[in-house]
Amino acid sequence: MTKESRSKPGGATPAKPADSAANALWGGRYAAGPSAIMAEINASIGFDRRLWREDIEGSKAHAAMLARQEILSPEDAAAIAQGLVRIAEEIEVGAFPFRPELEDIHMNIEARLKELIGEPAGRLHTARSRNDQVATDFRLWLKRAIERLDAGLADLQAALLDQAERHAATVMPGYTHLQPAQPVTFGHHLMAYVEMIGRDRARFADARARMDECPLGAAALAGTSFPIDREATAQALGFARPMANSLDAVSDRDFALEFLSAAAILSVHLSRFAEELVIWASPAYGFVKLSDAFTTGSSIMPQKRNPDAAELVRAKSGRVIGALNGLMIAIKGLPLAYGKDMQEDKEPVFATVDTLELTVAATAGMVRDLKADAAAMRRACSMGFLAATDLADWLVRRLGLPFRQAHHVTGALVRRAEEKGAGLEGLSLADMQEVEPAITQEIFEVLDIDAAVNARRSFGGTAPERVREAVRVARRRYLDQGGA
Ligand code: ARG
Repeated sequence: MTKESRSKPGGATPAKPADSAANALWGGRYAAGPSAIMAEINASIGFDRRLWREDIEGSKAHAAMLARQEILSPEDAAAIAQGLVRIAEEIEVGAFPFRPELEDIHMNIEARLKELIGEPAGRLHTARSRNDQVATDFRLWLKRAIERLDAGLADLQAALLDQAERHAATVMPGYTHLQPAQPVTFGHHLMAYVEMIGRDRARFADARARMDECPLGAAALAGTSFPIDREATAQALGFARPMANSLDAVSDRDFALEFLSAAAILSVHLSRFAEELVIWASPAYGFVKLSDAFTTGSSIMPQKRNPDAAELVRAKSGRVIGALNGLMIAIKGLPLAYGKDMQEDKEPVFATVDTLELTVAATAGMVRDLKADAAAMRRACSMGFLAATDLADWLVRRLGLPFRQAHHVTGALVRRAEEKGAGLEGLSLADMQEVEPAITQEIFEVLDIDAAVNARRSFGGTAPERVREAVRVARRRYLDQGGA
């Protein structure tokens, strides 16, 4: 092929002629190679090389099945298998010659196989297309990534559980609207996140179970006339079953969208928790001290201890939500079956897995290291009339007032305390009786913060005994620990 003939695809002169001739793997009908820009926009090898292991496994399973079905000779199948082993070794040690002009990981591997074993390499692609190949590789890769992520989430839960147990009785203000509402325990607050992460893990597990079907053998879009055994390849690759419809198998990316949806929700949880850490670590609250390992100092203000890790966990949720958004939009208008648009599915998923591996580990590290300041939390409980609800409840229980009236009486008492610049416990019995004559000395018992927390023994409530019980149950449920 001359340089001349390459430089004029479709009559248009490319901005810059490509250095390669027509693609060796699909270029049969092509007189010329792509323009440099075409090659660049088309290539995915820069990112899909991460699928190499799955691509080789898929090819091995496919070749073995072709041989069993007598579509491929045993000799050719053996040569292909050996060549693929050799390629895996080359990639492992960094000796594999990745070539951008070969577009993607599938063609890079196949072209190298041809160099290594010659003619039989060309038989590997029988009864297969890159369309079912890439969908298979990607599902395999993502199934494994979800397993790694799940282990990281279990570790985060373990860190939260240890702190929750330690602080099952450490009182702190509970908030609504970020206004002090009722006392809770720090352990109870942390356990809320154990539950959220538990549901995140379940969402990933659901997504993984649904993606556990094998596209291989769907071929380009319609199946194949060769007598292949899709059950066998699905099983060899560890999938539950082959996908039922060939068009669906090569063209849907709902498995990636489902993963990204679960990832987006997880990152929202992580971001909310990170935001709380930022608030708690601020001296105005001083509820927690983050470790040196997960904070940074300021180059100008020597006193600073900045919660950068928490801030970055909070911020990186934006990338994950963006990845979901981006892929939704990329897929939404695509007619069946495959379109090259689908090549854009990998980067958001890879980036999301990388981001989450980092943010989950950073969150676990912060939790493990943090020191809760129980005294500061208790001090904060003396602001904001946290026992107001308990006082109202006492009026209902002991004096038989309707709750609405009890609410009103309590409001009047809060106003009185505010005027005196005191907490509710700072009012005298006489002060109280001026508002509601039937109030007795006993009321002071419910104004005690510990009593208020201890009293909330309803299932799922904040009483320390409930929190300890929740920790035990969660360890069993999520970490498979703590016996039956
Ligand atoms: N690199 C491609 C992708 O990731 C592989 C499938 C290409 N298929 C095709 N018909 N051009 O989607």
